[in-house]
Amino acid sequence: MTMKVSKMFGGLALVASAFLLTACGSNNQKDTSVSDVKDKGTLVVAMNPEFAPFEFKTLVDGKDTIVGADVEIAKAIGEELGVKVKFSSMSFNNVLASLQSGKADVAISGISATPERKKAYNFSEPYYESENVVLIKKTDLDKYTKTSSLDGLSVGTQKGSIQETVASEQLKGSKVVALTQNGEMINELKNGQIQAVVLEKPIAEGYAANNDDLTISNIKLKNDDADAYAVALPKGDDKLTKEVNKVIKELKNSGKIDQFVQDAYNLSTSESNN
Ligand code: ARG
Repeated sequence: MTMKVSKMFGGLALVASAFLLTACGSNNQKDTSVSDVKDKGTLVVAMNPEFAPFEFKTLVDGKDTIVGADVEIAKAIGEELGVKVKFSSMSFNNVLASLQSGKADVAISGISATPERKKAYNFSEPYYESENVVLIKKTDLDKYTKTSSLDGLSVGTQKGSIQETVASEQLKGSKVVALTQNGEMINELKNGQIQAVVLEKPIAEGYAANNDDLTISNIKLKNDDADAYAVALPKGDDKLTKEVNKVIKELKNSGKIDQFVQDAYNLSTSESNN
């Protein structure tokens, strides 16, 4: 009898462990995110390069080239994986979707890792804390001092960005306009079609530095920790996410990310880029 029971238990344990093994095994088999990239020999990175100092276009040796802090992060990930990096530029409202359609392996585009987005995508550790500010015309600095100063006025945001939500929630009296291109939004601000633009601080600072007629207002907006930037990946690409995290951790600890941002900011505001 004792023999039988122990035999039975042993059998059950075997069945249970076999089940566990298969369960884990099939998970691992499905996640081919790292081997796919290595087999291709290329990491395809989705971004909207109209977002200095994180990603923007500039002339390098006479050639239009995408540069910026996110570009440096992408290159470091490529190096870790031993593959080439290819940048795929698109409008921001298509960046995340390109992961779902398989057009890109990762998206690095100053993307805020909000709880909403986390439902549909994997995200790396955050690599940059962002803060929302309101960019206005210098001549309006004394006029637009608090959120209610913008009541009844038009406020621009980039289409698909969290600033669309930030503006509609915090500037309740304003008319929020979503535009696909940041350059166009800045032009509309300069020519008076819109009166303000919500952007994250380093981006707004860059535009203010490059445009004598623009400045950051004293209007205070609330910020959320979840707005910090992270690398986005297709949901379930856990192995690739782990590799990306390794790189992010190293770059953060060595102070390199701050350096990338500073260097790219200097480049984007230097004479040749005006
Ligand atoms: N951080 C904001 C967001 O995730 C804006 C990002 C815009 N990035 C860009 N490359 N245009 O929604």
